[in-house]
Amino acid sequence: MQLTELKEKFTEIYGADGEPNIYRAPGRVNLIGEHTDYNDGLVLPIAIDLTTRALVRRNPKETIRLYSIDLEEGGRIPLGGGISSKKSGCWTDYIGGIIFSLDKEKRNALSGLDILLHSEVPIGSGLSSSAALEMAVASALNTEFELGLEPLELIRLCQNAENEFVGANTGIMDQYVSYFGRENTALLIDTARTSHRYVNLDLASHELLVIDTTVSHTHEGNKYNQRREECEDALNLLKKTDKLVHLSSLSDLSPEDLGYVNSTLPEILANRTRHVVEENQRVKRAAALLAEGKIGKAGELFFASHRSLRDLYEVSCPELDFLVNFARKQGIPGARMTGGGFGGSTIHIVPEGDSDTYLKEAGEAYLAEFGIEAEGFFVSPSNGLKEFTS
Ligand code: GLA
Repeated sequence: MQLTELKEKFTEIYGADGEPNIYRAPGRVNLIGEHTDYNDGLVLPIAIDLTTRALVRRNPKETIRLYSIDLEEGGRIPLGGGISSKKSGCWTDYIGGIIFSLDKEKRNALSGLDILLHSEVPIGSGLSSSAALEMAVASALNTEFELGLEPLELIRLCQNAENEFVGANTGIMDQYVSYFGRENTALLIDTARTSHRYVNLDLASHELLVIDTTVSHTHEGNKYNQRREECEDALNLLKKTDKLVHLSSLSDLSPEDLGYVNSTLPEILANRTRHVVEENQRVKRAAALLAEGKIGKAGELFFASHRSLRDLYEVSCPELDFLVNFARKQGIPGARMTGGGFGGSTIHIVPEGDSDTYLKEAGEAYLAEFGIEAEGFFVSPSNGLKEFTS
């Protein structure tokens, strides 16, 4: 949607009383390093060229008014008389959660604001539309009310909103890359140190294609939170042994420790641990290979990551597996599920020139197998919030 259209919509909903300010934050695709961020591990995401925009303007009421163009739905968050800690169970909780997570002094600095939201990031596709929404709104609040939040505080605020308020015990990757993403580069994030380094991507005449399964199996119990708990259980059991009493996270283990892990932990927990340890190794190697344009070798790591997520971490599903198997059969360099799993999207490394045909054939095969349309789009590593505002 063009900016002029968005502004018209803003006036239609909130009236003509001055120009709104615009804030935007991108979604992300994780190239490799899945379910490692909450284990103090490594991840290699890119910010993508799809953003969520927040158009905002101060209002004289003690209320934050919200409207989402995509959901055609409004909401209100009253500010006076204490912020409610009650979830409403809908998308406005992401914003309620941000406000709730602010400390008292900063919360008191807020006053009425009208917000219009539009997301280009497909909602529910595993490309972090929620992080893009949170980061756009948090940065609007930070600037409009001069809250003085530093980048990492902003990132953690949004992560907290998800963890403490919405109830999704996610790691830091999505908000972090939405802030620090940069054109043509991936971000190698060390989540233990909350630091990153930029990796210049040499895709050697390949494109990055996302194919969204358009299915979500997350309703089948909160399996994401369950995986996180399993990792905590694994860590606690390992720390009870003399050998690993000082272990601070699963990412501190090396591949040489895996024999001991296998003989110490129940099978499922040993599998989860092995995934984390080996995935961290894959991230390091993939970052080096992608910087050198060694796409074939990097792609093999994508396939290996997918197998591990399917067999050891058990967060894949038939739809994701089908698309990755399709990639294998077609002989493209690499593909894997991306994001939390249980539905959502896959990322494929496709040679330029073949990409449209590949996408068409993948879509047809998927439709024939599941009777569902997959959504495909090309993504390129793009700027995050930091680059928009600097
Ligand atoms: C979701 C979470 C991230 C990360 C991934 C899995 O996207 O928001 O923090 O844990 O799943 O890698």
